Amino acid sequence: MRPHHVREVLFTSEQIQQRVNAMIDEIAGICEAGNLVMLGILRGSFIFMADLVRGFAHHNLHPRIDFITLSSYGSGTESSGTVKITHDTDEDLRGADVVIVDDILDSGRTLAFAKALFLQRGARSVRTCVLLDKKTDRAVNMKADFTGFPVGDDFVVGYGLDYDKRYRELPYIAKVTFEETR
Ligand code: IMP
Ligand code: MG
Repeated sequence: MRPHHVREVLFTSEQIQQRVNAMIDEIAGICEAGNLVMLGILRGSFIFMADLVRGFAHHNLHPRIDFITLSSYGSGTESSGTVKITHDTDEDLRGADVVIVDDILDSGRTLAFAKALFLQRGARSVRTCVLLDKKTDRAVNMKADFTGFPVGDDFVVGYGLDYDKRYRELPYIAKVTFEETR
C-alpha cells in the first residue's frame, strides 16, 4: 500500500442515509414488484444493498436478493480491462426484472459486463443502481438508471468501497490522498 491518508470526508453517514432513502422511493416507483431480483456486485455493494433493501418493506417490495463476485484484474487504484466472474449467482433470471447494485461506476466495464450477462440469462429487464458515479471518461458507454452522488476523479473509500481491501467498514465516504514518495 502506498503511503496515504483517509481524512477528507466527502459524504457523511447522514448524507448517505438521506440519499439512499430517496433512491429507495425512486426504485419503488419504477420497478415492478412481481419478479424483482436485486443483484449486488461484491464486494463493494454489500453495505449499500443492505441499506437499500431494508427500505423496501414499506413499499411492499419483496425481491429476491443475491450477489455475484466480479473482479477486474489487478489491485491498486487502476482497474484493468478484463472482468471475470469469481463467484457466480445461481438465481434463475428468466423473465426477471433485475436491478444490479454496485458501489461505483467508473470505467463502466463491470456494469456493462453484468448487464450483458443477465440479459443473456433471460432477464426481462436489467437496470443499474450505483451509489457513486465517477465523472471520468468511460471505457464503455454506460449510464446508471439510479445514481446516488456524482464524484470527481478521486479515489474514494468507505461504505463498502475499499483501497487495497481496507476501509470498507467506514460509515462515511472519504477521499484517499496519496503522499508523494521521493
Ligand atoms: P469499472 O468497471 O471501472 O466501472 O469499476 C467499477 C469497480 O471499480 C467498482 O465496483 C469498484 O470496485 C472499483 N472502483 C472504481 N473506482 C473506485 C474508487 O474510487 N474506490 C474504490 N473502488 C473503486
Ligand atoms: Mg466493486
